[in-house]
Amino acid sequence: DGGRGVVVAIDGPSGSGKSTVSRRLAAALALAYLDTGAMYRAATWWCRRREIDLDDAAGVTAAVRRMPLEMVTDPAEPRVVCDGVDITAAIREADITAVVSKVATNLDVRAELARLQRELIAAESDPTVAGTRSGGRGIVAEGRDITTVVAPDADVRILLIADEAARLARRAKERHGTADEATLAATHDEVVRRDADDSTVSTFLTAADGVVTVDSSSLGIEETVETVLGVVTAAQGRR
Ligand code: DC
Repeated sequence: DGGRGVVVAIDGPSGSGKSTVSRRLAAALALAYLDTGAMYRAATWWCRRREIDLDDAAGVTAAVRRMPLEMVTDPAEPRVVCDGVDITAAIREADITAVVSKVATNLDVRAELARLQRELIAAESDPTVAGTRSGGRGIVAEGRDITTVVAPDADVRILLIADEAARLARRAKERHGTADEATLAATHDEVVRRDADDSTVSTFLTAADGVVTVDSSSLGIEETVETVLGVVTAAQGRR
């Protein structure tokens, strides 16, 4: 179809390996990489900086609509810049993680960020747009509602899942270097409670029609990347 770029949408819960796998996939296929969760985190950071009460839904929405956000979609070094400040590391801190669901469950914020996400996805998959990361080859976009709301017409749509034990163990290792009783307990809130809160607005735990489910519970990162690459290759054969 006239050399249009490929759009790969990947959804999944915390600790499913979604971010690592999506980055690797984008790097392997020379595509741009968009972490939409980072946009919700950036919105939270921005509201904090503007001293907006996160329980003031209208105030949060107004602030997010004026957020000067730049997503750097290089899979080798994805970065988030807001108001000229590189906030890539800051948005991973516990103080943001603890409250990001408040911003992510605001439906007007979701509409605004979805609009920005669609713009980015459209530009990266259009070879006639100048100055894109992928040169129009396409993009891997990951999140909770990419396969369903943001890019339901993506060329490839994948739901990456893993059972709760696997997700907890991965996140504990990532945060604390080891998965023992104490670090698993410390990680429980971030993984289980947050997904429960988030699922009040998106049903990312069940695959929509036409979405391929990949279960990474018993797969390592390499195996998961291989499996997902296989899904993309098969879908491209059908394009
Ligand atoms: O994946 P993450 O932990 O960086 O996501 C941050 C928050 O944003 C989390 O509460 C889930 C939410 N989110 C969302 O609601 N929709 C998306 N497309 C991506 C993330």
